[in-house]
Amino acid sequence: MGTAKVTAPLIFAITIATIGSFQFGYNTGVINAPEVIIKDYLNYTLQERFENPPSEVVLTSLWSLSVAIFSVGGMVGSFSVGLFVNRFGRRNSMLMVNLLAIAGGCLMGFCKIAESFEMLILGRLVIGLFCGLCTGFVPMYIGEISPTALRGAFGTLNQLGIVIGILVAQIFGLKIILGTKELWPLLLGFTIIPAILQCAALPFCPESPRFLLINRKEEESAKEILQRLWGTQDVAQDIQEMKDESIRMAQEKKVTVVELFRAPSYRQPILISIMLQLSQQLSGINAVFYYSTGIFKDAGVKEPIYATIGAGVVNTIFTVVSVFLVEKAGRRTLHLVGLGGMAFCSVLMTISLLLKDNYGWMSFICIGAILLFVAFFEIGPGPIPWFIVAELFGQGPRPAAMAVAGCSNWTSNFLVGLLFPSAAFYLGAYVFIIFTGFLVIFWVFTFFKVPETRGRTFEEITRAFEGQVPAGNQGEKGPIVEMNSIQPTKDTNV
Ligand SMILES: *[C@@H]1O[C@H](CO)[C@@H](O)[C@H](O)[C@H]1NC(C)=O
Repeated sequence: MGTAKVTAPLIFAITIATIGSFQFGYNTGVINAPEVIIKDYLNYTLQERFENPPSEVVLTSLWSLSVAIFSVGGMVGSFSVGLFVNRFGRRNSMLMVNLLAIAGGCLMGFCKIAESFEMLILGRLVIGLFCGLCTGFVPMYIGEISPTALRGAFGTLNQLGIVIGILVAQIFGLKIILGTKELWPLLLGFTIIPAILQCAALPFCPESPRFLLINRKEEESAKEILQRLWGTQDVAQDIQEMKDESIRMAQEKKVTVVELFRAPSYRQPILISIMLQLSQQLSGINAVFYYSTGIFKDAGVKEPIYATIGAGVVNTIFTVVSVFLVEKAGRRTLHLVGLGGMAFCSVLMTISLLLKDNYGWMSFICIGAILLFVAFFEIGPGPIPWFIVAELFGQGPRPAAMAVAGCSNWTSNFLVGLLFPSAAFYLGAYVFIIFTGFLVIFWVFTFFKVPETRGRTFEEITRAFEGQVPAGNQGEKGPIVEMNSIQPTKDTNV
């Protein structure tokens, strides 16, 4: 297995897959900049239709709906991953759902010409569905085609796609580019272009060899694809590993979402998957992005949008850093370092926010803490939760697990967005202490429960979880044994 090389077909397939991540990032970030312009448009269309100008409340509600319905679509989409991937295959699922991106992009792109705010809202829902599906498909596909030794580094490229998408959306949203009264429909409709690009390129990407062998029993094509992707003839060991998994899967019954919570051998990994997703969203990253604009303004930055773009650049740079660190330091270590660093920064933010009226220079400490917070996020809690779910499960339960994990991510993201503004209103600067609390809890959980998955095959990882289940299951205390039994043994080459 050590002979796997990074080949052009592998890089190509992963790059094309991460267009899906880019789409998620782009559509997450795109709605922030043109808020005022889109509200004016809503005001105008409502007046045209109903003759009276709408009240402030109606307008704000419609705007909030256009923003929030994206997350609703994302929750539904992420939960539906299992409907696609086993029926159509990983690659074809990614290909098919681009129809949603094109439909959503058209609805949003033409809503102004059609003077229909319904089209804008429906478009946001459809694009949310699409992004929810992408958040399941992309990490699954990347995890299944990557050589074991590089699974984490390539998995992190999913996050890189997301942060680049956010950054591009922020840049395109500038007034000098597409963030204007005339051009904003193009800003929202732009998502069609990556969709078409991905549709054109995906037919040249291979289907996941694990899917072909384990789900479809097509050993020959799986072998050919592996050899081409990894640039080596010597894939016998990996094929054998997949066959073992295939035999084991044939003995299990079909894994549904309910089964994930019932079966003792899945209970630990699904708990870990959910907790890691929560640790990403409840870390406060989106709240900090939201709050940062005001802080940058207070510190005398004239156009806070450029400071936000600056934070986006830091975001991107540290995701790249993580790509190179994740196979050296390991997932568990990076997640711990990331959460710990973020906890420290959130304390620093609270203190500097409280003192900034007394000491002007505290604003700069606060900006520093924000940027550092973002950097620590991208070191671990940003990328790792997405791809580690694919690592913790075998072929059978993987789609259901991705669905549960994706849905918890979208839901917690939605709740933070919904609750943070009022929490910030009532608590002021102390609001970040809540996140410090969460970060500490997730740090402790990661320390005691999350195993290191670096350098281990899927088979080894899932077997370690099953190893904890006593055969007879005699004890009353149930089958859960501490995860520490499969913690890192290979930390010598850090
Ligand atoms: C809506 O537009 C009208 C003018 O056409 C304006 O008087 C009103 O203030 C606008 N409403 C809001 C909430 O911006």
